[in-house]
Amino acid sequence: MMKIDEIRTVGVAGAGSMGAGIAQVAAQSGFQVQVVDVTEAACDRARKGIAKGLEKQVSKEKMTAEQMKEVQGRIRFSTDVGSLKGIPFLIEAVFEDIVVKKELFGKLDAICGEETVYASNTSSLAITEMASLVKRPAQFVGMHFFNPVPVMRLVEVIPAMQTGQATVDLALAMAQKLGKTAITCKDTPGFVVNRLLIPYLLDAVRLLEQGVASSQDIDTAMKLGAGMPMGPFELMDFTGVEISYLVGEIFHGYTKESRFAPPGLIRNMVKAGYLGKKTGKGFYEYPAK
Ligand code: 3HC
Repeated sequence: MMKIDEIRTVGVAGAGSMGAGIAQVAAQSGFQVQVVDVTEAACDRARKGIAKGLEKQVSKEKMTAEQMKEVQGRIRFSTDVGSLKGIPFLIEAVFEDIVVKKELFGKLDAICGEETVYASNTSSLAITEMASLVKRPAQFVGMHFFNPVPVMRLVEVIPAMQTGQATVDLALAMAQKLGKTAITCKDTPGFVVNRLLIPYLLDAVRLLEQGVASSQDIDTAMKLGAGMPMGPFELMDFTGVEISYLVGEIFHGYTKESRFAPPGLIRNMVKAGYLGKKTGKGFYEYPAK
């Protein structure tokens, strides 16, 4: 396994908001980055999202236009998993479905050598179960970033039961190199942040269902009374309402604890396609600009 200072290139599988954010941060930290997703459209969306994030930094004079070009020049996109061959550190950020992950790791195992470490950004699946899918489970670790990745400073590093210490140490060193603060935690549903955050978000939905207060008033209460940067409904609309729903469902499946059970309102919103900002309607409405 390579040492952190020997690693020049990072691979990212999945170009959704998390994968794109991770790619941006890795490129801004000086790595060459190879991003893979299944469609050109996904790659294009990520390219545009990264450009927007970098432009924001240029407009705030935290980066020059030239530096922005350099960062963008370090990121390559492809729809071919084969482009990740030979990369020593691969971060997986594909759809949260064990079948999708299994198929991806099967392909990666066929092209990756002994050097490669796999770090999964899963927020809801068990790291130990995912490690059991790969050829070298000692080189598999959870590395959970937060949305928006370029802004949120935390990474949770989660060893699977099978993970070797050298892999954990490398993930911790990688988090540091990416400018993040890492914590380690056991492979349990939700790790630390989502174990606390998901029941809180779902409780906010329960308050709304019970008519205790409006979504605006609950958001105002948590921002002004508890110092949260966003209220729970703003946050769910921002990350995607379906994320809180799906993650709650998965945790509930693992633990059977009622605090993770998504209430009816959020289930129906997902069925109706009210997913938040990206669909123009969630707990709030977002008229097209
Ligand atoms: N790239 C680089 N920098 C960026 C950026 C990007 N894409 N987007 C924003 N920034 C920078 C801005 O330049 C700004 O920098 P400055 O403060 O030094 O000037 C800073 O980040 C804040 O940006 P904005 O001023 O645009 O935005 P706000 O001050 O309104 O903050 C927010 C936005 C950071 C999203 C804040 O509202 C927040 O922290 N919200 C809560 C987010 C949260 O809880 N995330 C966790 C979600 S749960 C999760 O991810 C787990 C998953 O598993 C479900």
